[in-house]
Parts: sequence; C-alpha cells; structure tokens
Amino acid sequence: MSPIQPIQWDPDRKVLTLLDQTRLPLVETHLHYTDPTEVAGAIRGLVVRGAPAIGCAAAFGTALGAVQYTGSSFEELDARVRDAMGVLARSRPTAVNLFWALDRMEKLLDSLEGRDCGEVREALEGEAVRIFAEDLAACQAMGDFGASLVPGNARILTHCNAGALATAGYGTALGVIRSAHRDGKVSMVWVDETRPVLQGARLTAWEMVREMIPATLITDNMAGAVMAAGKVDFVVVGSDRIAANGDVANKIGTYSVAVLARRHNIPFVVAAPVSTIDFEIPSGDGIPIEERDPEEVAGYGSERWAPEGMRIYNPAFDVTPAELITAIVTERGILMPPYAPAIANIQR
Ligand code: MRU
Repeated sequence: MSPIQPIQWDPDRKVLTLLDQTRLPLVETHLHYTDPTEVAGAIRGLVVRGAPAIGCAAAFGTALGAVQYTGSSFEELDARVRDAMGVLARSRPTAVNLFWALDRMEKLLDSLEGRDCGEVREALEGEAVRIFAEDLAACQAMGDFGASLVPGNARILTHCNAGALATAGYGTALGVIRSAHRDGKVSMVWVDETRPVLQGARLTAWEMVREMIPATLITDNMAGAVMAAGKVDFVVVGSDRIAANGDVANKIGTYSVAVLARRHNIPFVVAAPVSTIDFEIPSGDGIPIEERDPEEVAGYGSERWAPEGMRIYNPAFDVTPAELITAIVTERGILMPPYAPAIANIQR
C-alpha cells in the first residue's frame, strides 16, 4: 500500500499538488497549485487541513510566491514574497504551525537581503522542502514515543483527523496509533465522527480502512457511553496550538472527550510536534479560535436541515486545560505534568 501523501512538491515543474480532502473518501482527486493566493484558498477551504499540513502548505505557498517572479530585482522579489506570506497568514487563525512556518520563511528571506534572485528562490524552496521533511520525521518519532504509552491490546479513541492527511505523512495521534499497531498493541480504534465537517468519519476512517487497522466509527455523542461501558483504554488526539502552560487547542469536541476520559480514569494523551507549541501564549485563553461558516452546522454538503433564520454558532476548535492531559508526546520526547516547566525546557 503506497503511503498517504496529502502534499507533494514537484521540484522540476515547481508545482504544489494537494490531495483534495474536501472530497475524501468518496472521490480521491489531486489539485495543482502555482499561485500562493490559491494555496491560501486551499487552506481556508480545507483542501489541505490539520495543523502541520497547513504549515507545510504555507511554506510551499511562500516558495511559489518567489518562483512566480522571474525578474532580477531583489526588492521586487522580496515584496512579492512578503505579500504572499501576508495572504497565507490570513487563511486560518488557530493552527500555530501556519505562523511558525511563515516565520521560518520570513527569517530566511531577511537573511538573504540583496542577494541574487535565483539564489533567493532556491533557498526559499529548499526551506519549504526541509519543513516538510522535518515534519515527516517528527511524526515518525512521535509515533514511536507515543506507542510506548499505549497498553497492550488497547482500545484507543481518537477525535478528528490527526493522521497522515493532517501532516506531511504518518500523522501525530494516528502516528501513535500506527506505531502501536505495528507493535501489535492495538485491538481497536474508536473513531469519533467529528461534527460538523466529519474529519473523523471521512478522513480518519479512510486512513484506518486503507491500512487495515481495526476501527469502529461512532458519533461524537457516543464517546461517553463507550467509555462508561469500559470499552476505551486510551485516548490520543492531535493539536492545533499548545500554550506555554500546556493548555491544548484542538478540534471542537476534544474538550468534552478529555472531561469524559478524566471521569472514567482513561489516559488522555496529546501528540503534536514542537512546531505546534506557542511559547508566546501563556495559557489557552489567548488562543484565537476560528469561527467557520454557519452553513457547516446547518447541514452537510448541499443538504440543509436547520430552518432558515436559525442563529448558529460554529467554533472550529476548543481548549482542553492542561490539568486534563496525561501526557504530551513530541518528537523530542514525552512531556509530563507540570507542563509549564517541561515546555520551557523544550524551548531551550
Ligand atoms: O479544521 P482542521 O481539520 O484543520 O482541524 C484539525 C485538527 O483539529 C487536528 O486534530 C489538529 O490539526 C492536529 S493534526 C495533526
């Protein structure tokens, strides 16, 4: 089975190819990008989604901004790339990996002031390729660290999609599940469907079926009942942004799962690369939570079931307080509470 590749870069044609996640699992189609504004549109429209994947796409989008300019004025190239980064930065607010990747690209651009345009284009493309490769390696490392926490014969619950699709490949939470499955530790994966846009039912389920990892789909409101019935041994989720005190923003509904896990004494583990930690934000209160189109809650696809005129609230993420989190798995090792010193230590 070929690996899942949500993001591909063609170094010869300078084209970014994204697996269209809005159409999975029914249609498996790829879209091609040569323009940073269109990449920003793909991020906003969830063609590419999941915090690390958004960061990688933004880095390639920035590189495309450089490649698009074929002239020889550094000032003009610099202005074009900074414009592209501005557009990409406005695509989605919560996943800090987007800003982390743009910051890396910007720092590199700053260091290239006045250099030959060919050299700048090559350096920015090289940095995007590095961000992508580092993410893939980080996911594999997290998978192995995280698998050491999984008990034998585990029934694992996960929320949203923190899989290969949400990263450069392999996944964060699903990376832990993949490594634990490879080690013979997984009896079954409970997949929360993850309303309103069903990243669990569509994307995590697709990854599990494709790789023949035994999994069962439930609606979000069933998680408490399966826990109460003693059918969950371990919970693992990804994250879009982790504050300096260990509070974790992730897909809406994660907080409810964490509260339920605490109630039933089930380990609740977060897997995320260090690029998901926002060292500048002291607690989860400071994390910007994206609100999305009310139509996502009013119905699905072309079908609307809520009455016209109904007020709708659609936050895409929630914050799970650090106190509910058993461990945070990163590519540099496993962080345990208290998280503030553990996170400060990892920054060094
Ligand atoms: O709105 P999405 O699909 O981008 O939200 C994705 C999540 O919340 C994931 O759990 C998170 O980004 C971690 S992905 C490794």
